[in-house]
Amino acid sequence: MISVAMDGPVGAGKSTVAREAAKRLGFIYADTGALYRAVGLYAVRNGLRDENASDYKEKVTALLPEIKVGIKLENGVQKVFLQDEDVSEEIRLPEISMAASAVSAIQAVRDFLLELQRSIARENNVIMDGRDIGTVVLPDAQVKIFITAQPEIRARRRFEELVKKGVEAAFDQVLADLNQRDYQDSHRAAAPLKMAEGAVLLDTSKLDFEGSVNAVIDLVKSRI
Ligand code: DC
Repeated sequence: MISVAMDGPVGAGKSTVAREAAKRLGFIYADTGALYRAVGLYAVRNGLRDENASDYKEKVTALLPEIKVGIKLENGVQKVFLQDEDVSEEIRLPEISMAASAVSAIQAVRDFLLELQRSIARENNVIMDGRDIGTVVLPDAQVKIFITAQPEIRARRRFEELVKKGVEAAFDQVLADLNQRDYQDSHRAAAPLKMAEGAVLLDTSKLDFEGSVNAVIDLVKSRI
């Protein structure tokens, strides 16, 4: 099996680029952020909204045994299920992005999702995107890519994505949220976002979608 680990900050184009590159390569695409989002959604649904509360970590951890997260591929599109309910749309709300970032800092949550992620790569040729795929989840991946772009460009892309979906958003807020999530994701103690050893840096600031997809495909082909 061939594994491509694709890590990077929010809005770098990871998911759209990885999905299209996987499709053209005949690989499956696995979006691991969606799994953290499902856990974040479950926490929010259970009233755990204040990530700064002293018992937040403890309470989220206590919920884990009852959480059922699963993914299914429907026509190559990943759907995420929480307690057997399709939550693929709901997990994209900005409130849930913040909750996902908060729960993802908890080591017990990361441990909880680890085996599910590894099992996907055992059974399929995959491009898996996330924050710690090359460093923790699939350290033996044949190809590791760290994909990024300047913060303003990433915020602009995320903003346009939300507008397209009809979600009310202000650009300044999107940029502020993105900077906060970047900070949280890269400064946490548990599996912080950083470039894996052997990873190739792909900066998409000046690349359009097609250019980014081709860059990934070229990299994969050159390594296998
Ligand atoms: O990629 P995303 O925006 O859907 O991810 C949501 C949050 O989950 C993000 O703030 C960081 C976290 N995450 C993580 O810690 N590890 C991963 N492999 C994927 C996502």
